[in-house]
Amino acid sequence: MPKLIKSQDPDALAADMIAEFIQQKPDAVLGLATGSTPIGIYKKLIEKNLDFSQVRTFNLDEYVGLSQSHPQSYYHFMQENLFKHTNIKKENINFLNGLVSDIQKETARYEDLMRQTPIDIQLLGIGTNGHIAFNEPGSPQDSTSRKIVLSQQTIKDNSRFFSPGEKQPEEALSMGIQSIMAAKQIILIAKGQNKTKAIHTALYGPSTTDCPASFLQNHRNCIFILDPHVDI
Ligand code: F6R
Repeated sequence: MPKLIKSQDPDALAADMIAEFIQQKPDAVLGLATGSTPIGIYKKLIEKNLDFSQVRTFNLDEYVGLSQSHPQSYYHFMQENLFKHTNIKKENINFLNGLVSDIQKETARYEDLMRQTPIDIQLLGIGTNGHIAFNEPGSPQDSTSRKIVLSQQTIKDNSRFFSPGEKQPEEALSMGIQSIMAAKQIILIAKGQNKTKAIHTALYGPSTTDCPASFLQNHRNCIFILDPHVDI
């Protein structure tokens, strides 16, 4: 079962855990998330002036059809919110490429890389529908990286990042549940009252495809860090 920590400051706690890990293992392999949840953690990591020169990263997901330089791409998000403020090497940043025509080949490439370079710490947010990465309800536990059609709930939740009239992608490439579960340690962060139901189901519901985060119950080293607004 995941370890549950309620914290007044989940960003500081998560950033401290990640920073300590990088100090102990300078070539740490980090699994990273985008969205609102990790922004504060990345800010705190930047402030710590860590040496990222040997750190390697894998991001969870990327929108289909957006280039890395597109302002709405998750690659761009990571550049702006973390990478460009550190000394991470470009060749150590791993991302799914949402522009490829051969998705099978691209997702196989990513899975191979993660097998060769297993993730030490995977940072996760959670969707209001219980998704982790873009594994929407219905995603099986043995799923690996693949193309996913986003649920209407996720499209609605993420519409806040897009201006009116701006085209919002409806598909993404995403690590699967199995890819995430292979990480040695998982830190899931949830902030805000609107995450209460998903967290409750993930922790106390049955471990089923209805709530993909509930599969984390089966991980040996998983921590949920919740802010005081998650009412649990
Ligand atoms: C982002 C990701 C998603 C988000 C989730 C929560 O890379 O994989 O699973 O973590 O949708 O998003 P926020 O943090 O914006 O509430």
